[in-house]
Amino acid sequence: MAARADGDWLSPADRYTPPMVELVLVKAEDVRPLRREVLRPGKAAKSSEYEGDDDSRTLHMVFKDGKAIVGAVSVFHDPRDDLESEVWRVRGMAVAPDRQRQGIGARLLSAVKAVVEKRGGGVWANVRLSALPFYSAQGFLVDSNEFKVPGLGPHVVMIWRPKP
Ligand SMILES: CC(C)(COP(=O)(O)OP(=O)(O)OC[C@H]1O[C@@H](n2cnc3c(N)ncnc32)[C@H](O)[C@@H]1OP(=O)(O)O)[C@@H](O)C(=O)NCCC(=O)NCCS
Repeated sequence: MAARADGDWLSPADRYTPPMVELVLVKAEDVRPLRREVLRPGKAAKSSEYEGDDDSRTLHMVFKDGKAIVGAVSVFHDPRDDLESEVWRVRGMAVAPDRQRQGIGARLLSAVKAVVEKRGGGVWANVRLSALPFYSAQGFLVDSNEFKVPGLGPHVVMIWRPKP
């Protein structure tokens, strides 16, 4: 059958055209190379393995451009005693250096927020001061004084809660 230019006869599924970058779930081992390159350059591979990486509640979300992972984030179940409802934690937020400031990080955090909204509770993160404007732009609020993470510099805790 000849295809019509307007594609009217195609089913909705057939009409799906993969976007340039696609959001997919992957295993922990798939996010570690980008974590290491962006967040732990020059450090041992082990430093990109996080506690809880293989927990059944942990989600590793990435944007793929073809086979290449160009952005990654992980959501862990990690309640903090000193926070009220922030039972989820964002870690490993990383966008490939040549793909930063193209909206990939914002789209990953939107996916995190959608997951948290469905699961219930809020989300927290230890945020590098350099990334504070990025998290602020996505609606996260500072919830601590500044503190130093050894080897990684000054951080603050930031939180996001879904609207009631
Ligand atoms: C921080 C990071 C994840 C942001 O991802 P990104 O894809 O570059 O960010 P986006 O393009 O989605 O930015 C969305 C908005 O956040 C804000 N923002 C992002 N990076 C910013 C920066 N360096 N300074 C100020 N504002 C910034 C802007 O408002 C931006 O919108 P705009 O580009 O239209 O002005 C990415 O730059 C990164 O991997 N940095 C190095 C690792 C890192 O610091 N990770 C976080 C550890 S806590």
